[in-house]
Amino acid sequence: MNESIFILKGNLVFSRSVEELEIREHSYLVCKDGLVEGIYETLPFEYGGYPVTDYGDSLIIPGLVDLHVHAPQYSYRGLGMDMELLEWLETNTFPEEAKFRDLEYARQAYSIFVENLKKSATTRACIFATVHRKGTLLLMDLLEESGLCTMVGKVNMDRNCPDYLRETDAEESATETVEWIKDVLHKKYQHTKPILTPRFTPSCTDELMEKLKMIQMRYELPLQSHLSENQSEIAWVKELCPWSEFYGDAYDKFGLFGVDCPTVMAHCVYSDERETARMKENGVFVAHCPESNMNLASGVAPVRKFLDEGVHVGLGSDVAGGSTESIFTAMSHAIQASKLRWRLFDDSLKPLTVEEVFYMATKGGGEFFGKVGSFEPGYELDAIVLDDTRLMHPQPLDVKKRLERLIYFSDDREIMAKYAAGVQIF
Ligand code: GUN
Ligand code: FE
Repeated sequence: MNESIFILKGNLVFSRSVEELEIREHSYLVCKDGLVEGIYETLPFEYGGYPVTDYGDSLIIPGLVDLHVHAPQYSYRGLGMDMELLEWLETNTFPEEAKFRDLEYARQAYSIFVENLKKSATTRACIFATVHRKGTLLLMDLLEESGLCTMVGKVNMDRNCPDYLRETDAEESATETVEWIKDVLHKKYQHTKPILTPRFTPSCTDELMEKLKMIQMRYELPLQSHLSENQSEIAWVKELCPWSEFYGDAYDKFGLFGVDCPTVMAHCVYSDERETARMKENGVFVAHCPESNMNLASGVAPVRKFLDEGVHVGLGSDVAGGSTESIFTAMSHAIQASKLRWRLFDDSLKPLTVEEVFYMATKGGGEFFGKVGSFEPGYELDAIVLDDTRLMHPQPLDVKKRLERLIYFSDDREIMAKYAAGVQIF
């Protein structure tokens, strides 16, 4: 018998599109060679004899995708939120990230991060490490062991940060990056991939950006960074790159904005018509990080506009701008933030719905990883099983309403089982 087939049974919920939530109650999800083979109300004869795990009345949904999180910042999540971005980086972020030169500290801190990410609903994540090559590799070792599917970046910074963290020059930053990539290739990880990570335009000289493009082409790597998060940051980019038409153009001029370079940009709170059009044209993904945008008083991104324009959008926790790795929390924050934006600022962009944030947290962000984030045939099987019996209620609730409550107030206690790329994590 072919051992690579297994079957999960429960209330299956997944997105077909941004508007369409599909609910298949008490159905069988057949997984073959790590991929979804099909969904059935009655198990077809040919699958008789393969193992079935019956999760009863639990909900089974695609694993959640965190398109933007900083692993070294997990140590101070929930602390020091009384500043805006640039002051926050200098005061909280850079001193903490400097500690990751020490591999013992890095092991201790990253172990806590990975342990908690493993317990969470997240199966996929795009992760920033620090500038340190060895520490980044250590984080990747821990993630590989966890079974999660991640893209991890050694951060590049050769200007505008304290001496104790800055890489000497573009040359050193590029050399360290290539050494790190070679180390990663040597490790032959199964589900932990490298992603180029220029921190943001203010931290990277033009010379470094040019070198990163060469590296990007040589090793065919994707890229993650920050974009249009805060108004002082945007003004600074205009000063640093007077030749750029808008912030995103400062990446695009170096070939680091989507075209031939799968790219995810965090925030995009102030992306205007031109920047949005360029993201659409180049296939850039937006990582919407609502909690971070509230904590650092950055603002609220025009997510409905991105969705209407057909820009790829996923959700990010952006720890430690965000306080939690929970993408369920990011979903509810995305809805709440969109309501405030609509009420207080721009009533032309209607608030986000449960269907829309669920899509962003699964299939929307999942697309950055390929066919990920849905239970349609051919998708990689990422799934979490949610038992909501602890969240008691006196009235009958349908599956859609149960999902809504899980989004607003479940925590890791509801997660009974987790699968990433067809492998059971717990
Ligand atoms: N922009 C540059 N670096 C960072 C960071 O660490 N967090 C956030 N939220 N924005 C950034
Ligand atoms: Fe960030």
